[in-house]
Amino acid sequence: MTNKTAPVAICTWGFTKANQAAGEALESGMAALDAAIKGVAVEEENIKNTTVGKGGAPDREGNVTLDACVMDSNGDCGAVVCVENITNVAALAKVVMEETPHVMLAGKGAEELAYKNGFQAEQLLTDSSEAAYREWLKTSEYKPIINIENHDTIGMLCMDQYGDIAGACTTSGLSYKMKGRVGDSPIIGSGLFVDNEIGGAAATGMGEEIMKTVGSFLIVELMRQGKTPQEACEEAVQRIISRNKNFKNFQVAYIALNIKGETGSYCIHPGFAMMQYKDGVNTRITSVAALDS
Ligand code: GLY
Repeated sequence: MTNKTAPVAICTWGFTKANQAAGEALESGMAALDAAIKGVAVEEENIKNTTVGKGGAPDREGNVTLDACVMDSNGDCGAVVCVENITNVAALAKVVMEETPHVMLAGKGAEELAYKNGFQAEQLLTDSSEAAYREWLKTSEYKPIINIENHDTIGMLCMDQYGDIAGACTTSGLSYKMKGRVGDSPIIGSGLFVDNEIGGAAATGMGEEIMKTVGSFLIVELMRQGKTPQEACEEAVQRIISRNKNFKNFQVAYIALNIKGETGSYCIHPGFAMMQYKDGVNTRITSVAALDS
């Protein structure tokens, strides 16, 4: 039976084209997980985006390593971490979910699985991200930038025509991170969580802080207790703020969607926006920030 509130797609930041692609895919009847993967692939393939996929900023040694996860309406999930040479890592996370007995594969193992499943090796370090890296090497100062270029990780939640919810989250992680560093984005419960009876949530921003509070899982559990998506996002951000005297020095932002098709978003610093595709209209919604007030 079709669901009257669906389809709905939301994603972190002003990734208009990505969210439009997911919304249109849902309108054409695509299932929620495939629509989310299709949507985030727009940014994975966008070489101008230095925080996701091909063109992402490298680690301190000059290697681009990508992280991603997916979660579907059955509660199944897959993730890949520290993957080199593969652009569409959210699609690869789905392969882990469907074709292996595991939830997460790292590094070379994930890359080999990709080749066995028809993914092509690609050079992820673009001329421009290499030039920026060489400039960074002059000081090698590690200082994550809040709202980097007004985007960061893309986390996406989709509700399909049957009301089923799924999501995808994909990133190149923090620019000039330590070799081997993995953030929240591929961690189920931190960067993404979906419970088809309740809703879903996704995160962007400083992964270390999101992981410490298992932010996306927390939001879904708060919605289970009766909070709206907006209230749940606000409480999850406040949880981080209340535990961290340093909170003004980093950004964390959440988006959430419940089974009624209601959405919410909240962040620490002003400057974050959520895209929302609903009733055939793709809208940029500027998020209220804790530091607005
Ligand atoms: N939220 C992306 C990261 O910290 O890697």
